[in-house]
Amino acid sequence: MTAVPPRQMGALLVRLEAVTSTIDRAREWLHEGASHGSVVIAERQTAGRGRRGRPWASPKGGLWMSVITRPGIEVEKAGLLGLAIAVAGAEATEATLGQAEACGTQTGTQAKAYGTQSGTQAEAYPYPQVGLKWPNDLMIGEKKVGGVLVDAQVEAGLVSEAILSIGINVNIRVEDLPQEIQASATSLLEVTGQAQSVEELAVRLLENLDNLWPSVKGDGTAILEAWRNRDTLIGKEVMVEEAGKMLAGRARGVDELGRLRLISNESDYVVSAGEVISVRGLWNEDSQVRAE
Ligand code: BTN
Repeated sequence: MTAVPPRQMGALLVRLEAVTSTIDRAREWLHEGASHGSVVIAERQTAGRGRRGRPWASPKGGLWMSVITRPGIEVEKAGLLGLAIAVAGAEATEATLGQAEACGTQTGTQAKAYGTQSGTQAEAYPYPQVGLKWPNDLMIGEKKVGGVLVDAQVEAGLVSEAILSIGINVNIRVEDLPQEIQASATSLLEVTGQAQSVEELAVRLLENLDNLWPSVKGDGTAILEAWRNRDTLIGKEVMVEEAGKMLAGRARGVDELGRLRLISNESDYVVSAGEVISVRGLWNEDSQVRAE
C-alpha cells in the first residue's frame, strides 16, 4: 500500500475580513517563518494589485488568495509556478460551474452561448470551459474571470520562496467593477446567474495545487498538458510586449519552461516575461486558412 502524502496547501490558513493585499500579509508571514503551503485569504482587499503594479479591484464576493510556497526549483523553471496556480484555479472554477449546472441553476443554452465547447463534450458538460491566456488570465469566453501573480525570491539559482496569488471574480456584479474593465471582465455570478461558494472554490483550488505540486518539482509535464488543453492563444495572431519591445506573431503555445512560443516572420521566438497586448483572428494550423 502506498502512503498518501499529507495535504500541504492550506494546512495553515488565515482568513481576514479586509487587508491591503493578501500578498502583503503573506510576505509578512513568510518572513515570520510560515511553512510551505500556508494560505492568506481576504474577503476584500483595499489595495489589491495586478500585474505590472496595476490596481486589482477586490470587493467583497471574490476569491482573493495568496499561497506561500518554498519551491526549491531551478530559477529557469519559475514560469511553471504561475502556470500551476492558474491551472489549479481554472480547474476549480470549472468544477464550480459544473456544480452550478448540476444544481440546475444554469440552462444549457446559456452555457453554450459561450461557444467554447462543441459536439458530445458540450452535450455532457453544457457549461463554458475556463480558458487560460498566457501569462496570467483565467478566461470565460472572451472575458477575464481571474488572474494570477507570482512573487518569487531567488537564492543561488534556486527559487527559495514564492508567493502564488490568485484573484477570481465569484459573486461580483460586473457593474460593481471599475468602468474601464467592465467590458472585458466577467464573474461566476454573471455566468451562472447564482451566487457560488467562495469557500468550496478555494478548497478545490488548493487540492488541485497540491496535486500539481509534484509536477512543479519535477519536469512540469502535468502542468503543461493541463495548460495546453485550456490555452486560448494557440494559433492566434498576437502582439506581445516584452521589456518595452513589441513583437507580432502567431502563438504556438507554451514551451517546457512555460514561456510563450511565437512564430514571427518565419522565425521562432520565446517570450518569458511579456504581456499579450492584442489577439486577432484564428489560424487553422493544418490548412493555413484563416478561420474567423
Ligand atoms: C492580474 O491578472 O493582473 C493578476 C491579478 C492578481 C490578483 C490577486 S487577488 C489576491 C492577490 N492579492 C493582490 O493584491 N493581488 C493578487
